Amino acid sequence: MLPPVIKDPSLHKFDDRTELLAHRIFEYVLDRIRMSPAPLDGPRTPAELTAATGKMITSYGLGYDETFRLFKDVLAPACISSDHPRYLSFVPTAPSEAATLFDLVVSASSIYGDWWVEGAGAIHAENETLRWLAGLAGFPEGAGGTFISGGTLGNLAALTTARQHWRTHHGRGLPLAIAAAPSAHSSVRLAAMVLDVDVITVAGDERGRLTGPALLAALDAVTDRQVFAVVASGGATNAGIVDDLAGAAHICTDRDLWLHVDAAYGGAALASTIGRPLFAGIEGADSFVVDPHKWLFSPFDCAALVYRQPGIARGALTQHAEYLETLETNYEWNPSDFAVHMTRRVRGLPLWFSLASHGTDAYDRAISHSILLAKEAARMIEATAGLELLMEPELSVVLFRKVGWTPEQYQTWSDELLASGLAFVVPTVYNGETVLRFCFVNPLTTSDDVQLILDELA
Ligand SMILES: Cc1ncc(COP(=O)(O)O)c(C=O)c1O
Repeated sequence: MLPPVIKDPSLHKFDDRTELLAHRIFEYVLDRIRMSPAPLDGPRTPAELTAATGKMITSYGLGYDETFRLFKDVLAPACISSDHPRYLSFVPTAPSEAATLFDLVVSASSIYGDWWVEGAGAIHAENETLRWLAGLAGFPEGAGGTFISGGTLGNLAALTTARQHWRTHHGRGLPLAIAAAPSAHSSVRLAAMVLDVDVITVAGDERGRLTGPALLAALDAVTDRQVFAVVASGGATNAGIVDDLAGAAHICTDRDLWLHVDAAYGGAALASTIGRPLFAGIEGADSFVVDPHKWLFSPFDCAALVYRQPGIARGALTQHAEYLETLETNYEWNPSDFAVHMTRRVRGLPLWFSLASHGTDAYDRAISHSILLAKEAARMIEATAGLELLMEPELSVVLFRKVGWTPEQYQTWSDELLASGLAFVVPTVYNGETVLRFCFVNPLTTSDDVQLILDELA
């Protein structure tokens, strides 16, 4: 027997209870944004969480009050606040107030971001934002792409496009490969695995950078595979070092290879007057990805993928189906055509809103802050007995060692630091050695914060 047709659409009714919930949620959001900083917090075990929450998914529903209480009192404090100014692990985040608030508008608006016919206004705003990024990279007028969930998907989409482009022009021959330095992000190797292509390792220089001469040597040494794309880092995550983009671009042009720049972490520095010179040569790339959720002050999850010639990506990645044919007749710009995705939140809008409101100079200042702070932190480390700087920072990552410490000592120190609520700083491994790493992206992080952490290492 079929279930009865719903007579009480309580799921979608705006009643007094909904109104009350709305006020509670807006208050919570306001408090969270006002709090500076929000508590760092930290993880709990699954058993602890189960004990604290009890069974949450039931046939009868817990109601708004109890469910929201569980989030506020149990679940949220078990998540680290990655916008805390002393969260310096991995790549932190630091969404602007304007971007965070506008994310609420995006959520409430049910805008379908795949196709122009449905999301024209939002896509127009996203595209101007992408053109700003393309312009910073020196890409030509027609450049464009889409916002996607992260650098991982950006690298996959760009390399899928590159492979299809290669096959269109060269057919099938030797097994295919991409070339990258060992410092390339793990998602590049993941993309290669998904595409079932090999990765040719280009030896890094003394800072781990991919350089033109090393790329040339690696390409000339390969005889049993065909390299179709080179991935260069616009800020390698572990050490924050930018590859020799000009050298790579020169060789890729010469050999007709696709150059993709993975600038997921560092690409924000294109918008910084003092960071931009490090990216000389990116204008010769075929595609690049930069994550606004990392250093462009956007909430999760948001990455910008830009192609020099978006038509190539469109040819490679557009999905065709009977029910989609209508979209091909009246084409303006369908973001779904430029990555391995379809349904898409218009996740570029929080960045657009904040950027349009504040202006690009404010972004320049806020990004430059972290580059300058990294240099200041380096001087502070050099001035601290028992600490050694590994290398001069380029972007906003600082690597340093505590002389004589074992990996276990670093981990214990890091765990205790988080448990104390002071800071979140995890060790990393560089050239086989366990060391400490700061990654700055938050304009609210100051040298006083750095000093507080260094004092814990005395
Ligand atoms: C250089 C680089 N590429 C790619 C990624 C993956 O990006 P996402 O986590 O947004 O998928 C990261 C993440 O830190 C990164 O630093």
